[in-house]
Amino acid sequence: MTDNTPVDPVLLEQLKKLQAKYNAMGQDLSSYLDGLLYADYLTYWDYIHLDTLLSLQNPKTQFPDEKIFILYHQITELYFKLILHELEQITANPQPGEAFFIDRLDRVIRYFRHLENSFDVMVQGMEKEQFLKFRMALLPASGFQSAQYRMIELYSTDMINLVSLNDRPGLQGAPIPALLEKLYWRSGATELASGTKTLTLRQFEQKYTTEFQEAGERLKSTNLLQLYQTHFSASPQREAIVARLREFDTLANVLWPLAHMRSAGHYLHKSPEDIKATGGTNWQKYLPPRFQKISFFPALWSEQELQEWGKAAFMETAAK
Ligand code: HEM
Repeated sequence: MTDNTPVDPVLLEQLKKLQAKYNAMGQDLSSYLDGLLYADYLTYWDYIHLDTLLSLQNPKTQFPDEKIFILYHQITELYFKLILHELEQITANPQPGEAFFIDRLDRVIRYFRHLENSFDVMVQGMEKEQFLKFRMALLPASGFQSAQYRMIELYSTDMINLVSLNDRPGLQGAPIPALLEKLYWRSGATELASGTKTLTLRQFEQKYTTEFQEAGERLKSTNLLQLYQTHFSASPQREAIVARLREFDTLANVLWPLAHMRSAGHYLHKSPEDIKATGGTNWQKYLPPRFQKISFFPALWSEQELQEWGKAAFMETAAK
C-alpha cells in the first residue's frame, strides 16, 4: 500500500541538509536512514544508565543505614563532578568574558550550597549505633581519599595557598613538586598517638600524587585565582566577581568543612586520650577550618578576616 500524502517541504529541506552533511564526509545518507528505521526509540532509563547507576550501592554489612552512607558519598562525588565540569570550562577558556565567568561561578556556588545544606543527611540521618559498627567494616577507606575534592582545590588557586601555613614562607616561588610535598592535607589522616601517616593517607598519595602534580603544572597560570588577577581585577564587573569568589571561598573552605566536621563531632567525638587509645587520627586538630586557614583567594580578605578564618561560622554552628 502506498501513502500518497505529499512530503512536507520542510522535511525535504531537512533531507537536503542531511545529504549535504553526509556527502561532505563521504557517507551514504540512505544507509543511515535505514539505520533510523530499525533503531529503537531512546528511553529515559537507557539514556541515563539508570540500571547501572542504581546497581552501584553495595554495602559491606547488614546495617540498613550503610546504604545511606554510600548513597550520600556518591551524591557528593556527583556534585563534585558538576563543580569540576564548570571549573574545567572556565579554566580552559583562553578569553573568559565577564558574563561567562560570573555565570559559571554562580553554578559552582549553587552546587556547593546544595552540598552544605544537605549534609544533615549524614549528621541526623543515620543511627549512631549502626554507623559506629558498619564503619569498622570500611577501614581504612575514608572520604579523605576523595581526589575530586583535591582537584577542586587545584583548579581554584595557586598551589602555595594549599600549603600548610607554617611552611609557606620558605616556599614562595618554589616549583610544583616542592609545594606538593607540603600540601596541608598531607598532615591529615595521621595517627594521633605516633604522628605517623595512616594507611588511608599513604594509599591516597600513592594513587594520586602524579595526577595532582600534572594538574598543578597545567593550572599554574589558568586556575581561578590567576584568571581573576589577569582578566578581572581591574574590570568594571570587579565587585560582582569578587563577591562571588568570596562566597565560593567561604562555601568551600568554611561552610562545607564545618557541615562535614559536625558529622565527625556527632559520631566520633571523644577525648583526645580516648582517640589515642583506640588508634584514632588527628581529625580534631585537622578538620576545623579555623586551624587550617585555607583560602583560595587570600588577597580578597582583610588580615583580620584571614586571622579569624571560620571562627564566626564555627561559633554560629556551635550555638545551634
Ligand atoms: C558520618 C559521616 C562522616 C564522618 C564521620 C567523616 C569523618 C571524617 C574524618 C574523621 C576525616 C579526617 C580524616 C581522618 O582523620 O581520617 C574526614 C575527612 C574527609 N572527609 Fe569525611 N566524614 C563523613 C562523611 C563524608 C562525606 C559524605 C564526604 C563526601 C565525599 C566526606 C569527605 C571527606 C573529605 C573530602 C575529607 C578531607 C577533608 C580535608 O582534607 O579538609 N566525608 N572525614
